[in-house]
Amino acid sequence: MVSTEKTALYVQLVEQARALVENEPDEIANMANVAALIHDTFHFWWTGFYRLIDDDLVLGPFQGPIACTRIKRGRGVCGAAREQRETVVVPDVEQFPGHIACSSASRSEIVVPVFDSEGNVTAVLDIDSERLAMFDDIDACFLEQVAALFRK
Ligand code: SME
Repeated sequence: MVSTEKTALYVQLVEQARALVENEPDEIANMANVAALIHDTFHFWWTGFYRLIDDDLVLGPFQGPIACTRIKRGRGVCGAAREQRETVVVPDVEQFPGHIACSSASRSEIVVPVFDSEGNVTAVLDIDSERLAMFDDIDACFLEQVAALFRK
């Protein structure tokens, strides 16, 4: 997909996501619809949220194959994004030490933290692709806008 096409899809996606969540206070419902929206738009391998509960990242609404339920502090790409408090793009999961292989089909990944108004991480948006190097700065930029919709 060329970057102009991707950007156009993301511009539309962010607006749709905003419209979906703006009048609904339930975070789970909103995460469910936003995961479906992203997944349907780009046909990624796995798209979903992990929510920070009692110091673990716990599986939340997602689209795709079954996934690991609970991710401890510092584990995997999700744990790295949580610790570093920034988006982590992994072009080749086999080159990422400690990557949690929920599915052997996953080849590349992006994880975007969700923050509260005090800057604490409350969740992560995790997207996997079965293609190498699927994610770049365009994905990071727009998915950070999506994650910001979940700021409490
Ligand atoms: N890949 C993640 C684990 C979650 S699954 O990809 C859905 C990680 O290493 O953090």
